[in-house]
This record gives sequence, structure tokens and C-alpha cells, in this order.
Amino acid sequence: MSFSTIPLAGTKPEQYAQLLQQAHALLHGERDRIANAANLSALVYNALPDLNWVGFYFFDGRELVVGPFQGLPACVRIPLDKGVCGAAARLRQTQRIEDVHAFPGHIACDSASNSELVVPLVTTNGELIGVFDLDSPVAARFSVEDQEGLEAIARVYLESLQ
Ligand code: SME
Repeated sequence: MSFSTIPLAGTKPEQYAQLLQQAHALLHGERDRIANAANLSALVYNALPDLNWVGFYFFDGRELVVGPFQGLPACVRIPLDKGVCGAAARLRQTQRIEDVHAFPGHIACDSASNSELVVPLVTTNGELIGVFDLDSPVAARFSVEDQEGLEAIARVYLESLQ
């Protein structure tokens, strides 16, 4: 299969609708969680501006372990009581952090990161799979519209595993 990405255009909600469609097409017919996490990271990293890290951490039953990503090498293991990723996984709530330096316990993997969005990945059965993590060098990079768009992308990922 060949896959071509078309640059996103229009308003932010329109751009996320296009990105969602591309994500659906990219993951269609494949259930492997590593393959889909790798391709989705690459899609989002290249489609959206002002990102320096996009990727997955998987929950191994005890802590989060880094999975496929785009960006600089990252910390491998994150306990659930540490960092923005740990908070998203523990609370099962998206963490939208305008200034990571003001977040108690933030883990700085890449010193260029200034804002962060972490979406928990929880199945319809309530099983925590991990988190989808995006970092930006721009302060307050992620708006509520970005959060909603990226939560929808995360749902496409979860649905692809079924
Ligand atoms: N900043 C994250 C750690 C992961 S990196 O951003 C890739 C955190 O505080 O959980």
C-alpha cells in the first residue's frame, strides 16, 4: 500500500477532520499496535506544525514504557506518579499543559519542550493501554480544539486495535 499525505487546509476543525480521515486510511485493515503507533506518530508529527515530539508510551501493568515515536530519544520508563504522562495515565484524563516548567514533576526529555498534550489510551473495557504524547517548543501550543482533534485521533488508534 502506498500512502500520500496531503497538506492540511482550512480552519483548525477542518484540518483535524482531514487529519482524522488520513489516520483512518493509514490504520485501516491493520491491528498491530506497534505498527499503528509508529505510523500514526509519523503522520501527526509531519502534518501538524510546531511539534518536537509525538509518540506513544505503553502501560506494562506497572509503569509506562516508551513505544514508537518521532523526535529526540526519550526517557524509557515513567512511573504513574511521575510527569505529565504519568498524570494522564493515572487520572485517565487528558493533560493539556501550557507551560511544562510550571507542572510539578514534569519530566524534561527534550529541553526544547515548553508545552505538552497527553491523551490517555483506555479501551472500551476500561483497560489502560498507555498514552499518546505530544510536545511543543511553543508555549501554550495546544488549544481546546487541538485537544479535541487529538483525542479523536487517539480514538482512531484505539479502534484500530479491535
Ligand atoms: N514530558 C513527559 C515525558 C515524556 S517526553 O515528553 C517524551 C512527562 O512529563 O511525562
